[in-house]
Amino acid sequence: MTAEWLKDAVFYEIYPQSFKDSNGDGIGDINGIIQKLDYIKSLGCNALWINPCYDSPFKDAGYDVRDYKKVAPRYGTNEDLYNLFDEAHKSGIRVLLDLVPGHTSEEHPWFLESQKAEKNEYTDRFIWTDFCFQGTDGLPYIGGESERSACYILNFFKCQPALNYGFYKTTAPWQKSFRDASALATREAIKDVMRFWLSHGCDGFRVDMAASLVKNDDEKKSGTSEVWHDIRRMLDQEFPDAAMVSEWNDPSLALRAGFDMDFYLNEPGGGYSTLMRDYYNNGGSIHGDRNCEDHSYFKKDAGGNINRFLGQYLSRYENTKDLGYISMLTCNHDTIRPRYSLGEEELKLSYAFIFTMPGVPFLYYGDEIGMKYLEVPTKEGGYFRTGSRTPMQWDESANLGFSTADASDIYLPIDDSADAPTVASQESDPDSLLNTVRSIIALRHQEEELQADAPLYIVCSDAGKPFVYRRGALLCVVNPEGKELDVTLPQNAAMHLQGDVLFEIGDISLREGIISIGAQSFAVIK
Ligand code: NOJ
Repeated sequence: MTAEWLKDAVFYEIYPQSFKDSNGDGIGDINGIIQKLDYIKSLGCNALWINPCYDSPFKDAGYDVRDYKKVAPRYGTNEDLYNLFDEAHKSGIRVLLDLVPGHTSEEHPWFLESQKAEKNEYTDRFIWTDFCFQGTDGLPYIGGESERSACYILNFFKCQPALNYGFYKTTAPWQKSFRDASALATREAIKDVMRFWLSHGCDGFRVDMAASLVKNDDEKKSGTSEVWHDIRRMLDQEFPDAAMVSEWNDPSLALRAGFDMDFYLNEPGGGYSTLMRDYYNNGGSIHGDRNCEDHSYFKKDAGGNINRFLGQYLSRYENTKDLGYISMLTCNHDTIRPRYSLGEEELKLSYAFIFTMPGVPFLYYGDEIGMKYLEVPTKEGGYFRTGSRTPMQWDESANLGFSTADASDIYLPIDDSADAPTVASQESDPDSLLNTVRSIIALRHQEEELQADAPLYIVCSDAGKPFVYRRGALLCVVNPEGKELDVTLPQNAAMHLQGDVLFEIGDISLREGIISIGAQSFAVIK
């Protein structure tokens, strides 16, 4: 059951370390988010995704959870978070927390019990082989650290032991079936965590590594999907308005498994990564080759071709449009900010595109003002990702308004360049990136045909021509190139048009079925 409110949802992702520090200790917190709810509302965002804010040793920025039911003291208290739910709701904003179901921290009490030699309730909460010298079939594992004579499997970093949801196909005696009582107990434990936050006012979850749960799964992820179906049934019965977005990157499987939305993330082979930064060109990878040749679509005169994106996206869209939503995002805490490769006009066009596409869009904090990717030392297992996680830039005051702490106590480095963008410096300029983002999101709320469900039709995607697409009866045109381009509209697109331009970046003119679209321009036409 897809929550009705998602039809017109626009999400804002907040990395809590870096959004707003309300108590002057140099690190962002929950009360800081509450202080900025009016700002979030002013963007037109009506939903939040907050990265993990639970008690943690923070070896992976909180994706190593030590207590699923306790807010990390550095962010505040559980009462602060309940208060955030209330205050956000008063402003018409829903709040998704980040659920990390695949692993805990190695300091989680379940794991501390599980690693004990003596059998106990948590012995099989994690995945262990049955001897200290016995490794696993290709899965990363650790041996030699526990009292128990066995090795345990990791789900990601060394600090993140994999929870036991069982194996779809078992090939060794130590592997439990995904329907074994121990695997079902893990499911119940995660449902309990979900119930806890949902009953305190949380509106749903972004789910970390959602496809990773059942090991040795088949290609269709049948085992993992069975787990999510089970969890979905619980939600439908007890919290029918809750929303779930998966980090799965395969909407056809994720939405069939019961998610409402699946993120469209960067990946090799075209698709999303060809829009804003072509990391995978020439075999480059997102972290390894930031200098690879960039032919991304929104980069002016870079020889980009929208069909590299459409070639992958359209089949995903067609295959899932009746099941739920693909979520396009400006970037997230794991990827490099779009400002790294795109200038201001290019950013405006790419965001206008994202906020006029079907599905449910996500804006990463600071992308609305074009915050830069900073080359900074790694923190909390961030590595190259740390550069996209620096403090929000509010105004020209000390620490760019993020915190009143001494500069030396600021947790993550602040952009100290002379041209660091801030919210305050863009507020009064109607053409600023910030206000362009506000206008296009406002238009999305105003026009149902720009929202999640209205159908998408491609009108023109010829190389060297503007990209023209229709959402219902609204026509969207984009020309990322440095020169004016014309396109003759086919009869079936032209006949829907009254000719009213509802939104415009740059110059557009329309006469007798021909649209002339100026250099680096975008328009929505009724
Ligand atoms: C994906 C999260 O987005 C990332 O930040 C984290 O490091 C891994 N999952 C492990 O939880």
